[in-house]
Amino acid sequence: MHVSEIASGDIPPLSGYSEDQLDKAFAAISGEVEASSAALSTPEAIEAFRLQWLGRKQGRLKAISDAWLKSAPAEARKLIGQRFNTLKAEIEQRLEHASSSHGAAGLDAEALASKRIDVTLPGARRQLGAEHPVIRTQNELLAIFARMGYSVSIGPEVETDYYNFESLNFPPGHPARDTQDTLVIAGQDRKPLRDRLLMRTHTSPVQMRTMEQHPPPLRIVIPGKVHRNDAADATHSPMFHQLEGLCVDTNITFADLKGTLDHAMKELYGSSVRTRFFPSFFPFTEPSADVQISCPFCGGSGCRKCKHSGWIELLGCGMVDPSVFEFARLKQPAYDPKKISGFAFGMGIDRIAMMKYGITDISLMFSGDLRFLEQFA
Ligand code: DAH
Repeated sequence: MHVSEIASGDIPPLSGYSEDQLDKAFAAISGEVEASSAALSTPEAIEAFRLQWLGRKQGRLKAISDAWLKSAPAEARKLIGQRFNTLKAEIEQRLEHASSSHGAAGLDAEALASKRIDVTLPGARRQLGAEHPVIRTQNELLAIFARMGYSVSIGPEVETDYYNFESLNFPPGHPARDTQDTLVIAGQDRKPLRDRLLMRTHTSPVQMRTMEQHPPPLRIVIPGKVHRNDAADATHSPMFHQLEGLCVDTNITFADLKGTLDHAMKELYGSSVRTRFFPSFFPFTEPSADVQISCPFCGGSGCRKCKHSGWIELLGCGMVDPSVFEFARLKQPAYDPKKISGFAFGMGIDRIAMMKYGITDISLMFSGDLRFLEQFA
């Protein structure tokens, strides 16, 4: 039978709705499918077959559905429908088979020639990726603390007021909140203050999140992005990176804090670097301190980098305030400030990276300029 004859053929009416009669009617169509799929050797023939049977408007399957299925009495629908689906699957299978065997065997000489590789051509140069200076510095710091037994903890950049402020002993309305230049998420005035979302202004909220998940003892460092509504200039960016640290155990003292940070700075800048601690204030530590290191550029004798003071301020730290443990205790009773103590610290990774690599403008690090980044490859 010729394809065009089948395509133009009408669908004969069903002689009845018994299973036997239906089987016969569908078998006849199935025979037509088989005949018309015999010579599907070109993409054109395959497409013609597809249109002939599955075409949305004029395909024979549609005609069969119209002639047999739509007009059938309700009780016969299911029997016809099952056979119809089998027929459709058969057609699709034949199509798939024809397309895949055509795809494999049908590559003609011309197509093959266009795929041939000229091995004498110069190779495609692949650009080498490089670690970003901030990430490289972050990894160095993480490695230093890993050697002292610290694990890494991370937390979300979109944070709640509770974790960013309240649980760290910044009560609502506390003036220390003003020093953080917080970027808040809009449209949350109907929520209770503690649930309102903001861009975290520091990595300290992850201290609380981690304590809620793990009882003491705890030794963690927390790297991450933080955000503040700061005007951009050579040393400020509204997005920057911090490394936070938290150590909690029995009998942790300020001496442990000093020893840990002094050692970390010597690892980072070399063993001749010295540290010194000044009283400071953070709501979540008591006492609090700012830490300076002797200028790694001039060794402490004074130069432009340290503004001729011989010292560079690098981080904030302190002993964890008992009120912070009280918040942690709501979820983990073992954070009892009568039984345990701890220290915490926070430093700006970007500043450390800038000092390390002599970068004078922080915006260079976040502009995505390959001419800058390639220097670290
Ligand atoms: N979160 C402080 C800030 O961003 C930095 C800091 C200071 C973190 C003292 C600490 C700490 O963990 O103990 O300004």
